[in-house]
Amino acid sequence: MGARATGVVMHTTDGSEATPPAGPSPQEYSVSLEGVSVAFDVPGKGNLLAVDNIDLHVPAGQFVALVGPSGCGKTTVLNMLAGLMRPSAGVVSRYGKPVDGPSRDIGYMLARSALTPWRTIRANVELGLEIRGVAARERKSRAMALLERLKIDHFADAYPSQLSHGMQQRVAIARTLAIDPDLWLMDEPFGALDAQTRVRVQSEFLALWEGSGKTVLFVTHDLSEAVLLADRVIVMTHRPAEIKLDMMVDVERPRNPQEQLFDPRLEEIERTLWEELRHEIQ
Ligand SMILES: Nc1ncnc2c1ncn2[C@@H]1O[C@H](COP(=O)(O)OP(=O)(O)OP(=O)(O)O)[C@@H](O)[C@H]1O
Ligand SMILES: [Mg+2]
Repeated sequence: MGARATGVVMHTTDGSEATPPAGPSPQEYSVSLEGVSVAFDVPGKGNLLAVDNIDLHVPAGQFVALVGPSGCGKTTVLNMLAGLMRPSAGVVSRYGKPVDGPSRDIGYMLARSALTPWRTIRANVELGLEIRGVAARERKSRAMALLERLKIDHFADAYPSQLSHGMQQRVAIARTLAIDPDLWLMDEPFGALDAQTRVRVQSEFLALWEGSGKTVLFVTHDLSEAVLLADRVIVMTHRPAEIKLDMMVDVERPRNPQEQLFDPRLEEIERTLWEELRHEIQ
């Protein structure tokens, strides 16, 4: 599906080229980008082409990692899916319907998702539910369930400044997922965490996702993170971004980042990705 949809060769983990199976119908793709280009009008520099004619089709329930050099257009892709901006050309759609503005079934988490300092942890997690008019009792039970799964329920009444950075990121995950979004847009959510904290938060995040059936688009600079978490990794070129490689990570689930950090199969895929990416960075 990836190869046919994107027009690039899809590799299996043994490096051979795979014949893609027949893909789902457009209505079954949680995310579709067809011929999508984005140009920004930069004062004094004219038109800057950030994204160049991208095709990407993501079936519902797939976990896709997006990697590429800094400034290549990864955040721009997420912003279009979130309905925060429109492409200059092409169509961005979800389940066959063009995205024409922000949607309630999307959760978007940024690298430095700032929590609201004067709200307790639980009140932070409840924010999106409050905006949607969910009743107090329901808000509390949903927030507490997520905090428990992320092992920070005992901090429910604390304030963000009382928590470590890793714990704050767990709260930001809970806040993003409290509305039970169908599409999870994650823009380098763990990029600022130290290595040990990151692998723990990755494990907790993956445990929340596995079995959820939700679609994830996860931007990261960290190839190890991409292969540990994702079903499929998309390598983008430097600006203007095109898709350079579309690769499946055929390693069974559930996965445990803490145990699989040095899994040789994942490391082999990571090496292949690095070979592609390093040419783009140079
Ligand atoms: N509003 C804007 N106006 C002008 N140029 C923009 C705007 N937003 C993004 N760009 C440019 O478009 C390109 C892609 O930006 P984007 O933020 O999507 O990259 P990125 O891949 O997310 O980068 P990073 O890895 O550093 O986060 C960059 O060159 C950026 O400077
Ligand atoms: Mg970015």
